[in-house]
Amino acid sequence: WMSFEDDIAAIQDLKRRRNAVILAHNYQTPEIFHGVADIVGDSLALARKAMEVEADVIVLAGVHFMAETAKLLNPKKTVLIPDMGAGCSLADSITPEDIALLRAAHPGLPVVTYVNTSAAVKAASDICCTSGNAVQVVESLGVPKVLMLPDEFLARNVARQTKVEIIAWHGHCEVHELFTPADIAELREAHPGVVVLAHPECPPEVVAAADFAGSTAVMSDYVANRKPARVVLLTECSMSDNVAVHHPDVDFVRPCNLCPHMKRITLGNIRQALEENRQEVTIDPAIAGAARRAVERMLAV
Ligand code: 13P
Ligand code: SF4
Repeated sequence: WMSFEDDIAAIQDLKRRRNAVILAHNYQTPEIFHGVADIVGDSLALARKAMEVEADVIVLAGVHFMAETAKLLNPKKTVLIPDMGAGCSLADSITPEDIALLRAAHPGLPVVTYVNTSAAVKAASDICCTSGNAVQVVESLGVPKVLMLPDEFLARNVARQTKVEIIAWHGHCEVHELFTPADIAELREAHPGVVVLAHPECPPEVVAAADFAGSTAVMSDYVANRKPARVVLLTECSMSDNVAVHHPDVDFVRPCNLCPHMKRITLGNIRQALEENRQEVTIDPAIAGAARRAVERMLAV
């Protein structure tokens, strides 16, 4: 922490001077998550809480689609992302043109789009979802069949929990696709009694072999409410580090996969973002209205 003190003090001061807040995803490193963030959570919580922000400036410590979502919900505020290159393999897996082709192939089916997508893809969709509300969103439409994009594994995991028929795309999260059922078998063998929590972006056979699956916020709540003696979170590495801070008596087994996009955000570039007012997130006005509607429709479910 000593090496971080300087940046943390400077960022706290800049936040006051610029009337800024920092929204941080659960995958941000502990010095960001516990050191400078004002609002933390999963993608759904960050979107919901972005709507309530009263500050003039939002710094999104997370990946680009999260900053775009915050901007869609706060068109008049300045939204900054400390590194424009913080992308996402899911967001990169689909374009608005792909959605147009899918709609032509499946006339009349609603398009449910994961928030891990560009604003242009959201604009081409009917409604968004996150891993925290996907089943409710799919069922809210009152139809027997939907397209659910772009995460194949999330779509298949949701399909196991609903009667609604789901047509998926072939996008994957480069972090969660790496977990295997063999990893779980080895963990159970090496750490008797370990409770295995998996993110729904993991392959369905991994979710099936886990004890419980849920969004990052749901995993965090599981640890807080159920207090397992020993737990492993099959997700991005910083997640366990952040949750473990609040639960010194829980034994966290920590095999994990790093998200290189989330890790582009550092205290150094958060400080620079506030000092230099960069990088400012903007949304093409031609798509902003339609993208906002898809997100707002989700938030109303
Ligand atoms: P949630 O925090 O919504 O579970 O999403 C995980 C993720 O991979 C976001 O990039
Ligand atoms: Fe995208 Fe996966 Fe990284 Fe989340 S963890 S930002 S889904 S690549």
